[in-house]
Amino acid sequence: MEELSAPPSPPVEPFELPVDDVLLRPWRIADADAFWLAQRDPEIARWNGSPAASREDVVAIVARRANWSTGDHASWAIVDAEDALLGSLSIHRIDLLERDAEVGYWVVPAARGCGIAARAVDAACRWAFEVPDLERIELFHAVENRASARVAEKAGFTQEGRLRRSHRYGDGQRHDELLWARLSDDPPPR
Ligand SMILES: CC(C)(COP(=O)(O)OP(=O)(O)OC[C@H]1O[C@@H](n2cnc3c(N)ncnc32)[C@H](O)[C@@H]1OP(=O)(O)O)[C@@H](O)C(=O)NCCC(=O)NCCS
Repeated sequence: MEELSAPPSPPVEPFELPVDDVLLRPWRIADADAFWLAQRDPEIARWNGSPAASREDVVAIVARRANWSTGDHASWAIVDAEDALLGSLSIHRIDLLERDAEVGYWVVPAARGCGIAARAVDAACRWAFEVPDLERIELFHAVENRASARVAEKAGFTQEGRLRRSHRYGDGQRHDELLWARLSDDPPPR
């Protein structure tokens, strides 16, 4: 069997990614309060995992997201022109050898329905196909989460299948999920 050759390249430095009128910027510890508040939204608590139990937990989560040195994720806070937190976007489970990763996101209730998630996912994927040179990015969401399905579609992903009771979400129940993927040579969304 042929050996896998090229060693993974070093992790990228955190950087800012402007997307139209919003900015994807690296997380800061100062975002902990806004992150905590966002997690209180029932939809985010349900579809992005259980809310952190304490302020210390939130600070630890934000600190992990701010630290890209592990090389396995690129995580941004989505903010407006006044630096108010609008959402979260992560390319995570980055595997530089296999050249694949997963994308995850949420948007605060007041900012939903304006295309922020779809545009942020598209922009982060375009970067990930260029710089870490990924070939495939996967996106999973519970079947019931229709808004997330629409985000996947608008961000140029193709639905590949249904995974039965594949993930336990914030409501404590295992849900069927839809698996979507976007490949580096898929046509980008219009
Ligand atoms: C899913 C989520 C990130 C979408 O963020 P957003 O910035 O509003 O997304 P966009 O505006 O780019 O697109 C949302 C699309 O879903 C559609 N949508 C919203 N609610 C819907 C519903 N209940 N059923 C069907 N479509 C719905 C919107 O109409 C829009 O589509 P359109 O542009 O064709 O009108 C946001 O709703 C959210 O954070 N939800 C809670 C947490 C979550 O689900 N995270 C993702 C886990 S996989």
